[in-house]
Amino acid sequence: MRAIEIYWNGGLAASTLSQSSSSISKVHQRCLRFNRTKIKAVASSERSREAVAHEEEEACVKFAFVSSVFLPDGTPDVQLRKACGGQKLRDIMLDANVELYGPYARPLLNCGGGGTCATCLVEVVEGKELLNPRTDKENENLQRHPKNWRLACQAVVGKPDSRGMMTIQQLPEWKAHEWNYRGLPPNEEEEEEAASISSSSA
Ligand code: FES
Repeated sequence: MRAIEIYWNGGLAASTLSQSSSSISKVHQRCLRFNRTKIKAVASSERSREAVAHEEEEACVKFAFVSSVFLPDGTPDVQLRKACGGQKLRDIMLDANVELYGPYARPLLNCGGGGTCATCLVEVVEGKELLNPRTDKENENLQRHPKNWRLACQAVVGKPDSRGMMTIQQLPEWKAHEWNYRGLPPNEEEEEEAASISSSSA
């Protein structure tokens, strides 16, 4: 089992990753937790309380971008960023120098955000509630992909005053591991729940 531990100002978000081996992935459980105590504990003593309070109040979305490959020492390669909401995920990633296109990065190899080439794929591991619903272009291009895969050029992250945290798997088609969603991607879990509710109420 491979576990990702994502630190953000002392906050800990941990999601469990499994490698592609189905025998390994069966035993994995997904978890996500934020430790508020740790957030306060790591605040630098030199910074004024006002500065810390201002930062805590700042409206932004925090991101953990997970690379498709592990680092040479076998640990996940996670980049932490933050950005204002109301922007397309593609723009946030490119502005933050986070790899999005992989082998399709050269201008003529992708559509530049037009929603037609499907080379800007990302897997939304956490925080899908911050995104707009799939667009028609996504519905057209992503029929064969899990429902939590999005085109970064079509996915808008919240509004300018949005807060939250997202975990984004980069280049999901090339990843060497699987995220464990208790067996199903999040949207499918919800659909199953909705289906079971409607069938029991019928
Ligand atoms: S950049 Fe071409 S579909 Fe997103």
